[in-house]
Amino acid sequence: MPEQHTTPQNSSVLVEIKDLRTYFFLAEGVVRAVDGVNLTVNRGVTMGIVGESGCGKSITAYSILRLVSPPGKIVGGDIFFYKVPKDGSSSQAEVINLAKVDPNGETIRNIRGNYISIVFQEPMTAMSPVRTVGQQIMEAIILHQKVDKKTAREMTIDILARVRMSNPERVVDEYPFQLSGGMRQRAVIAMALSCRPQLLIADEPTTALDVTTEAQILKLMRELQEELGMGIMYITHNLGVIAEMAQEVAVMYLGRVVEKTDVKELFFHPLHPYTQALLTSIPQLRDALTRQEKSRLNVIKGMVPDPYARLKGCPFHPRCPVMISGVCDEVEVPEIEAAPGHMVRCHLYTSH
Ligand SMILES: Nc1ncnc2c1ncn2[C@@H]1O[C@H](COP(=O)(O)OP(=O)(O)O)[C@@H](O)[C@H]1O
Ligand SMILES: [Mg+2]
Repeated sequence: MPEQHTTPQNSSVLVEIKDLRTYFFLAEGVVRAVDGVNLTVNRGVTMGIVGESGCGKSITAYSILRLVSPPGKIVGGDIFFYKVPKDGSSSQAEVINLAKVDPNGETIRNIRGNYISIVFQEPMTAMSPVRTVGQQIMEAIILHQKVDKKTAREMTIDILARVRMSNPERVVDEYPFQLSGGMRQRAVIAMALSCRPQLLIADEPTTALDVTTEAQILKLMRELQEELGMGIMYITHNLGVIAEMAQEVAVMYLGRVVEKTDVKELFFHPLHPYTQALLTSIPQLRDALTRQEKSRLNVIKGMVPDPYARLKGCPFHPRCPVMISGVCDEVEVPEIEAAPGHMVRCHLYTSH
């Protein structure tokens, strides 16, 4: 098959997204939801994705799992998934270009919920209201791991215990509506982890929860990552959560990654004017690195442009306080490695 080949050695790279473009073709025009995203997630590492609502975080995630449906379409780029067989038959990664596989085919169905899982923002949408928690988790286990019903049930109770669900033997036979919001999100996480994925995508998983429950879920996810060694792509608009969860971070603006580095570097040496604006909107920014902080992105001056418009030059230029006229509004901006491992997409760091 053309989309597959094998790497010579085991790699720490889990997913490598290159120049990904996912567009929505509407009667009103084309929405460039993801417009040239470059991103790498490594094994065992949490990559935080942060940016205002509508910047393309979820559509990037859905593109990986091939959950974008018409009028949305991946129109360009690659999503290389480095798949190491779970059965231990080989330690070599098979590289699969998820951008090129059939979205309904066997390759993606074997990966989705098995090698790569997602936890959505709203736990109620992730679970069926008419089936018990246990039935839903068992279904995933039976689908991907060839075990009988009795074993699947034992595995389900075990995974519920792992997400620190109190009384897992009872919860397994309960319906989602019988659980509190926090317990429901634990059940959804249990479902996502039931097949021990190599990549967990968490799309704003705590946004619907109160602060105390959020703190518990974040702690749980850190513990489970340590236990299972999975890579996490953690999507949020909350920089406090990024400070607490991520080792690496990518800042998105209008369908692109505009800055990417490790989390400490981003908080202490932000380079992109957009990132700087996001950070100054948080008063106790540096404290957020050491203690939990509830901080939302404040609104930055100016409006997010019309989604159908394609801006010349840097897409942030209409809102940028240090815009260079004739450059930022004219010249396409490339990715620059401004410091080792610190990527920024801004003309301040190019020779124009
Ligand atoms: N089904 C859809 N149809 C049309 N446009 C969409 C659809 N889903 C998302 N978009 C658009 O794609 C852009 C990115 O959306 P999304 O990835 O959901 O943003 P985020 O998760 O960062 O808040 C937005 O402009 C949004 O309006
Ligand atoms: Mg979203």
